[in-house]
Amino acid sequence: SVTRHYKFDIKLKNVTRLCHTKAIVTVNGKFPGPRIVAREGDRVIVKVVNHVSNNISIHWHGIRQLQSGWADGPSYITQCPIQTGQSYVYNFTIVGQRGTLFWHAHITWLRSTVYGPLIILPKHNASYPFAKPHKEVPIIFGEWWNADPEAVLQQALQTGAGPNVSDAYTFNGLPGPLYNCSQKDTFRLKVKPGKTYLLRLINAALNDELFFTIANHTFTIVETDAIYIKPVKTNILLLTPGQTTNILLKTKPEAPNATFFILAKPYFTGMGTFDNTTVAGILEYENPSDSSSTNSNNLPTFKPFLPPLNASITTSFVMNFTRKLRSLANAQFPANVPQTVQKKFFFTVGLGTSRCPKNQTCQGPTNSSKFAASINNFSFALPTTALLQTHFFGKSNGVYTTDFPSFPLHQFNYTGTPPNNTLVGNGTKAVVLPFNTSVEIVLQDTSILGAESHPLHLHGFNFYVVGQGFGNYDSNKDPAKYNLVDPVERNTVGVPAGGWVAIRFLADNPGVWLMHCHFDVHLSWGLRMAWVVQDGKLPNQKLPPPPSDLPKC
Ligand code: C2O
Repeated sequence: SVTRHYKFDIKLKNVTRLCHTKAIVTVNGKFPGPRIVAREGDRVIVKVVNHVSNNISIHWHGIRQLQSGWADGPSYITQCPIQTGQSYVYNFTIVGQRGTLFWHAHITWLRSTVYGPLIILPKHNASYPFAKPHKEVPIIFGEWWNADPEAVLQQALQTGAGPNVSDAYTFNGLPGPLYNCSQKDTFRLKVKPGKTYLLRLINAALNDELFFTIANHTFTIVETDAIYIKPVKTNILLLTPGQTTNILLKTKPEAPNATFFILAKPYFTGMGTFDNTTVAGILEYENPSDSSSTNSNNLPTFKPFLPPLNASITTSFVMNFTRKLRSLANAQFPANVPQTVQKKFFFTVGLGTSRCPKNQTCQGPTNSSKFAASINNFSFALPTTALLQTHFFGKSNGVYTTDFPSFPLHQFNYTGTPPNNTLVGNGTKAVVLPFNTSVEIVLQDTSILGAESHPLHLHGFNFYVVGQGFGNYDSNKDPAKYNLVDPVERNTVGVPAGGWVAIRFLADNPGVWLMHCHFDVHLSWGLRMAWVVQDGKLPNQKLPPPPSDLPKC
């Protein structure tokens, strides 16, 4: 294994999409940002220098950060943000992971433009559990706002209303030809016939789960969140924000000059039609006899294949799709699912309201309220200093409390009639876990202000998705149906709209770890909480002291 050095200069760059030009925050002037490529076992060192007026921090999404919590990146959780003119060196080793992840800014909504692929190749001499692909291509899904996303967020927080939605979805920063004034900004994948391509798909969109399909082609899912899975053949998949997946696309034996749409569109619009909420790219077969000919101005000759789905059945499609994903669970890649658990948590996740401040007018669900989001009725308030520092130096008094409830304080029919009182509490609350505690969390969606799915992301760990279902979780009946043999292992799971999921993990990584909804709108409304995992007894079970350049608040 080797050490890989990168330098990220955070700077403004003028970028034009949909005929709107604006200065956006970028890494090294690139949009999307540069690719990080490393092998399992490598050390990665990234020096981030902030040249813009915004504060920033970078999160290496899905990296376990074993004993390196100082490099995790969420602002005010593991570090204070990097201020203008300052720098910070992220230093971490990739242990036991290989596959596709990504990195993104972890403060306000800056990740709308500050994101890029993080690709972990197998160790030297190690191979994939499938035949070596002809070529590997990352496709990172994003969102584009014609307005400044920071202003969109500020407006939403001040008025307490839902924020404006983005103007386009993108593949590698390109909206594609189904949007106005966007034909030249189209992602094109040139392929040879009869070859296998490994596509590394990343959903870096802020607020939407996206369906993905390629016209007239099927593909095989072989990995999710940088963990190999049992191969699943499909012609459509769903990725929540924060999820990544690798698929193998075998091209047709012969299709000279043919072009096919590559498409993604949000869950909430259903899958039945492709319209101007759809990002389109183009799969182009080369003409073997004439390599000089290019069809780069043509739109696809094949209409997109429309799976027989519509909005009313997409929810059950999603449930069936996610149930098909299973760990390899073999000798080389075992599934170490905790068979028993020491600590059980039941977390309700969903929307709610908070009071409109006296001298303000709000445009929330009512004039006197703002939108809020919570776990177990608590909306997480970001502290003004970093939790990990205060924890490490034993100065957490007055910064956070450790009384985050294990169960909801008020019980009601979570997926039935919502309670009259939709107000949420507010605080900086954490749960303390002794080192190596085995944990189960049942995440239950609530239908307060409407049932909605929530992609829950846990920092510092992967977890096993041992169960899921519609309606209210039943602690008597549902555990008997858990899959404790080959459940999928991931870092982000969609809590189904009007349903629940159960996850298990081992708290073997000391530090302070954020868990949150990966929809940035819900994150900003407080759908987050923190785990404080204590040191173990052995030297290699302790969090080392912080690096000397750790930013100050
Ligand atoms: Cu990808 Cu806390 O985020």
